[in-house]
Amino acid sequence: MTNHNYASRVQNHNSSIIADLLVQSSDPQNISFAGGYPDASLFPSADLADAFQHAVADNTPAVFQYTDAKGPQELRELVAARHAKHMGYPATADDIIMTQGGQQAIDLLASLFLDAGDGLAIEGPTYLGAISIFENYAPKYYEIPIETDGINLAILEQQLQANRGADRIKLLYLVPDFQNPTGITISVAKRQRLAELAETYDFYIIEDAPYRELRYRGEHLPTLQSFDTHHRVIYVSSFSKILAPSLRIGYICASPTILTAVAGLKSAADIQSPNMTLDALTYYLNHYDIDAHIANMIPYYAKKRQTMIDALHKYMPSEVTFTEPEGGFFLWITAPASLDLNAFMYDVLIPKARIVYIPSQAQYIHGDVANSARLNFSAVAIEKIEPGIRLLAETFTNYLTNHPAE
Ligand SMILES: Cc1ncc(COP(=O)(O)O)c(C=O)c1O
Repeated sequence: MTNHNYASRVQNHNSSIIADLLVQSSDPQNISFAGGYPDASLFPSADLADAFQHAVADNTPAVFQYTDAKGPQELRELVAARHAKHMGYPATADDIIMTQGGQQAIDLLASLFLDAGDGLAIEGPTYLGAISIFENYAPKYYEIPIETDGINLAILEQQLQANRGADRIKLLYLVPDFQNPTGITISVAKRQRLAELAETYDFYIIEDAPYRELRYRGEHLPTLQSFDTHHRVIYVSSFSKILAPSLRIGYICASPTILTAVAGLKSAADIQSPNMTLDALTYYLNHYDIDAHIANMIPYYAKKRQTMIDALHKYMPSEVTFTEPEGGFFLWITAPASLDLNAFMYDVLIPKARIVYIPSQAQYIHGDVANSARLNFSAVAIEKIEPGIRLLAETFTNYLTNHPAE
């Protein structure tokens, strides 16, 4: 974006990178491992249509009226009950605010905590949509690398100790389960320690967990929030991945004090979320079994994940490594350090193989890691996964053979 009248924070905004990737991703000639969409064939379309019909027919005229910025009491009770059952935190309706997706939840929390120059710790890499939000608040970033069991706590503690002034870390943003983009999950020991650190060093944690319930292997781990005894962990979730993203429904679970401040900000942002969709969700949760719906989706996603991992094992040259996530939508590939996977995608991969992924640069704050990329397995048709990965692997093999590392 280049208009000198625009705010300076917008000038280097990453939205143009995302817009270009969306164009590449939606080109029908390309096999896209770039998107982050759920599989549309798994939406409970008939049940949601029924829920919307009832939401309007049963609640007229209230469904068309303004309401509480936090969302209807009955829905917050239903969401709190689910939260208590699945996330191990004894939430009540007073601890819940409904938002327009997890995206708005992150934005409201960034707006609550961050003045320009305030310290924000994030995982490196992290969810590129969160980067787009944080850029608007011009924080001072502390980008903490990720290990196989999640965020590197030694480096985080070092940064917490070293920076005690005005730019100290006030907020830490994490995606603990099947992280977007790496698929990595934070270990139980680290979760517990993170909750302790937040109290010791006086900062807050956003636990952003939209993929948590989509686990294909292993046991569910306790949430960070379940270790939190001081209201330091603010939990963000979403119905986008487990029901449908167009609902634009997410929620924040936090202490009532924090939620009162968030509700004020939400009121300023959009007055309220649309009643019609919130009432439809209330009807859906009262009349359909969302847990059974999630359980039904899991084998489909598990099969896509396995197909991609098997193909990577079979075809990828040994110089290219990859994560094997236990859930979620994504895995992360890493090529030799000399290979720039953004340039490789535009110069070689798209012209020769018509394959797209999300290169790592856009998923780091300073764009300084170039040899990794995010691959999505949820949205691509299952029959395209094996041939797509084979082609990707062959293109890597040819390239690496012709350009051996110095
Ligand atoms: C980690 C993470 N957080 C939040 C979101 C926002 O999703 P939504 O606003 O649809 O809930 C996404 C979407 O891809 C995501 O991957």
